[in-house]
Amino acid sequence: MGFILSVLLSGSVMAQTKKFQVNANDIKAQIQQNMWGVFFEDINMGADGGIYAELIKNRSFEFYKPLMGWKREGKAYKEGDILVINRQDAKSNNPRFLRVKANSVAKGDFTLTNEGFRGMGLKKDLAYEFSVFYRQLKSGIQLNLELLDGKGNVIGTGKLIPENADGNWHTQKTTLVSSATELKGRFRIAFEGTGEIDLDMISLFPTDTWKKRPGGLRADMVQRLADLKPGFIRFPGGCIVEGHELSTRYQWKKTVGSVEDRQLIVNRWNTEFAHRLTPDYYQTFGLGFYEYFLMAEDIGANALPILNCGMACQFNTAEVVPMEQLDEYVQDALDLVEFANGPVTSKWGKVRSDMGHPASFNLKYLGVGNENWGPQYVERLKVFQKALKSKYPEVKLVFSSGTDPEGERFQYLDKELRNLKVDIIDEHFYRSPKWFLENAKRYDNYDRKGPKIFAGEYAAHSGKTATPDNINNWLTALAEASFLTGAERNADVVQLASYAPLFAHLDGWQWTPDLIWVDNLHTYGTPNYYIQQLYSLNKGTHAVSITSENEVVAGKDGYYASATIDKKTNEIIVKISNYDANSREIELNISGIKKLNNTGKDIYMVSDIDAVNSIPAPLNVSPKERMVKASGKTVKAKLEPYSFHVFKFKATL
Ligand code: AHR
Repeated sequence: MGFILSVLLSGSVMAQTKKFQVNANDIKAQIQQNMWGVFFEDINMGADGGIYAELIKNRSFEFYKPLMGWKREGKAYKEGDILVINRQDAKSNNPRFLRVKANSVAKGDFTLTNEGFRGMGLKKDLAYEFSVFYRQLKSGIQLNLELLDGKGNVIGTGKLIPENADGNWHTQKTTLVSSATELKGRFRIAFEGTGEIDLDMISLFPTDTWKKRPGGLRADMVQRLADLKPGFIRFPGGCIVEGHELSTRYQWKKTVGSVEDRQLIVNRWNTEFAHRLTPDYYQTFGLGFYEYFLMAEDIGANALPILNCGMACQFNTAEVVPMEQLDEYVQDALDLVEFANGPVTSKWGKVRSDMGHPASFNLKYLGVGNENWGPQYVERLKVFQKALKSKYPEVKLVFSSGTDPEGERFQYLDKELRNLKVDIIDEHFYRSPKWFLENAKRYDNYDRKGPKIFAGEYAAHSGKTATPDNINNWLTALAEASFLTGAERNADVVQLASYAPLFAHLDGWQWTPDLIWVDNLHTYGTPNYYIQQLYSLNKGTHAVSITSENEVVAGKDGYYASATIDKKTNEIIVKISNYDANSREIELNISGIKKLNNTGKDIYMVSDIDAVNSIPAPLNVSPKERMVKASGKTVKAKLEPYSFHVFKFKATL
């Protein structure tokens, strides 16, 4: 009897309309207009083979196997006709080049083919710019250039006859047009004639790069970022910053200046996961710090660079630089601020200016350390903090609270960083959807006077990290959306937030899940991407209170909610997540305003919890919009099972 009664009661509770009170006068926080950002790391072929539009893999023959990605073929080719030469100290950043010899070679009898990064994306009617560094020892060889489709058919041709024969290095360019669209194309050089020539920096770029910049970025990938209207871009990592060991840490100074002088290094994600080995993954730094700053500026985001703190990845070697040798690292940080903001008369300001940007990049944030932990980290941070704050007090410093959002490492660092009165603490959480739901109140009791929080890397994981069953489905996105109501409610503390990782190539990934997936020609945003976008595009200017039964809405009966007002556009914005298998009626009662428009929008996402997006169905799980009515200051709506809603009403505030 008791059981039946309780079932009946719970059924009637579920059927009742859930009422929410929004009080626009009860302002909880001012929302940073740059709160929602992106975190870029060269993982999953995010930079080389991804957003950096170079199509030739191993263009300067500096991979550990100098001819990796290249194939020598043809009946006229004999051993020794292509030599890899190492000039070592004479050009230590880019020591290797190819020496090619030909003797009465007919076109097609001696070729060199590049396979690209899991093939090359080629587009019908698009021009591709070929460039090469060469030195003729004996003139007479011409380079016939061919774009190939996946089957080896020629779909574009060009020719380069070297113009200079003075025995010095020169560069020369030409263009080829593709007659077909191909996902996994290749590029072939067919040598012809008699002679001897040295070749280096063999390069092929599409001409439809972002802002049509030669040697630039893939426009479709940058556009995905721009569409998020990100408030900041954190770069270049991630563990990339730390390196497996210190010699492979990210050193920004080696990524600026002429591209051919940027010394490549192995990408630390190449062998991290045994089931996803990527030995051909290198960082050429064609996308270097100047290009990162430029991209940030282009898409209206604040740059948020992270630098090495004198420690390599603690999951790998945990190599540390001795304290007495930390100066070089600290100097790199000081010089970076000068590179970004310094006058053109300063040493590093001049480097920026010479690269094409005399104006300051207006750097406001700088991070030191990524997922470092322990007393060694704190000891080093103190040195950075002192040096940076005394020279650049206006730059906000971001320090990491380690790998996890709880536990011993976290507790220790959180306490130490608060004692140091740091500006911003960078928290990372890769956790189950359940964790996200259970932690929607995480920030409710954070110290309002302490450091601000940067939720710098987060993602709900449906399976084990980096395994194929850990996917970007609607369940994970809805769990993140639910959790983020808590970040928005506490926007006075949580001032920056970014999902991680950002990009993944379908044929070259190491880590899942990721925000945006790409192949050589296409991109798609995951359901998680659209959640980030909904928060970013509908942030409002102030968080205000929203309660149900006099409590914050953070999980009871599967509801999660936050509310903001936008004083610039005069809007009330209410986000509600229905994390439940039933559809339910809700009522929003809005006080603290003079008038509510009688129609508004419900921008919503709903799907099967297992649903995903893909290249053929990129919008399978994505926001839709419908009109919703208000009566006086009350809005009634129906929430579908497992749905997320952004209700937006114009109001007289
Ligand atoms: O986002 C992938 C990796 O996760 C980052 O490089 C690192 O910071 C974290 O462990």
